Amino acid sequence: MLELSEVSKTYKGGVRALERTDLKIEPGQVTVLLGPSGAGKSTLLRCMNMLVTPSTGTVRAEDLPPLESRRALRDHRRRTGMVFQHHQLIPRYTALRNVLLGRVGYQSLWRGLLPSTREDERIALDALDQVGLLDKALERADSLSGGMQQRVGIARALAQRPRLILADEPVASLDPATSQRVMSLLHRVCEHNGITLVASLHQVDLALGHADRIIGLAHGEVVYDGPADNVTDADLQLIYEGVTDNAVEPALTDPTVKQAAVAAAR
Ligand SMILES: Nc1ncnc2c1ncn2[C@@H]1O[C@H](COP(=O)(O)OP(=O)(O)O)[C@@H](O)[C@H]1O
Ligand SMILES: [Mg+2]
Repeated sequence: MLELSEVSKTYKGGVRALERTDLKIEPGQVTVLLGPSGAGKSTLLRCMNMLVTPSTGTVRAEDLPPLESRRALRDHRRRTGMVFQHHQLIPRYTALRNVLLGRVGYQSLWRGLLPSTREDERIALDALDQVGLLDKALERADSLSGGMQQRVGIARALAQRPRLILADEPVASLDPATSQRVMSLLHRVCEHNGITLVASLHQVDLALGHADRIIGLAHGEVVYDGPADNVTDADLQLIYEGVTDNAVEPALTDPTVKQAAVAAAR
């Protein structure tokens, strides 16, 4: 579905955010990029739709030519939904109007200046229904709770009718219980619509509970790549080496935490 060959990123100023990386994203899977803050998760995720331009390497999407081609990039972005940590909604727009923005990639420039079509509205309302917010369609985005705003963000991505969703820390701004619910919802709607999901997360429990495959990042390098079921505490040590974040310590020291997390998320 997506193939990265020798993709690396060095930002201006010389920060090496991502070492040369080869990977393939398989269709229908939930892949989680796991790692501490600064590990390179957002950089890798954003290279997948060229929001970050790789310093080396190429990205190819399914049947399209490499994404250096403008047309290939446009087609790839049209069928790739993005979910952001801070949802990036327009606060004064209604939930529905925000979700309709997911349709923009399908409209010609002049069409985008006209009122939305019946068909687009139907797709947007269906997306809101899928995230359980049909009754909030006409409320302003800034009147909704944080969890609901992120669900509108998911609906906007769904309205794009994507094949792939890239979600960058989709629950990092939410409390733990809401995080769990929103992540479950994102997982469920992707499964229901046959959408491939790549999400970056820094919480071990959420990652292990939802991923088919974990790509563990540390210091811009892939240090683990395999099934979520096979992640050992030693792998987590490697991913979080040198990190003393309280949030990850229990998972490193207590093997039952991992099993409990997986059970809770399923
Ligand atoms: N636009 C940027 N310019 C310069 N350095 C950046 C930029 N974005 C990220 N970085 C740096 O690249 C490294 C990886 O960052 P990032 O991909 O955001 O990691 P993560 O998402 O895992 O927290 C960090 O050292 C970060 O400070
Ligand atoms: Mg990030």
